[in-house]
Amino acid sequence: MYSRKVLDTFANPKNVGEISDADGVGTVGNASCGDIMKIYLKIENDIIVDAKFKTFGCAAAIASSSTATEMIKGLTIDEALKITNADVVEELEGLPPQKIHCSVLAQEAIAAAVEDYRSKKQKKTE
Ligand code: FES
Repeated sequence: MYSRKVLDTFANPKNVGEISDADGVGTVGNASCGDIMKIYLKIENDIIVDAKFKTFGCAAAIASSSTATEMIKGLTIDEALKITNADVVEELEGLPPQKIHCSVLAQEAIAAAVEDYRSKKQKKTE
């Protein structure tokens, strides 16, 4: 049911773990399956210099986390927010229809981590 790329990425995911001094952390979950994804970002001058994840979820969620964190490294936060779950699915060479929501988690976790970064940054300037 999964593409070779999904299986390979699930077997050897990149960026697993956490960043202890992360500038932004986003945690999202899917109520229907109960899976949880947490993404940590290290950001310098609004550029994502490092990204890691911890995902308690299915193979598609782990493959999506790995792929999404790879895709956003080196991007500005505005560029990272433009990455959609469809981009992640394309990079994974497709996901079964019932697994599309797993890639949505990655998009949402990135957005939540950027939001966290922005609110912390704003608090510092207040
Ligand atoms: Fe819910 Fe994959 S089944 S994240």
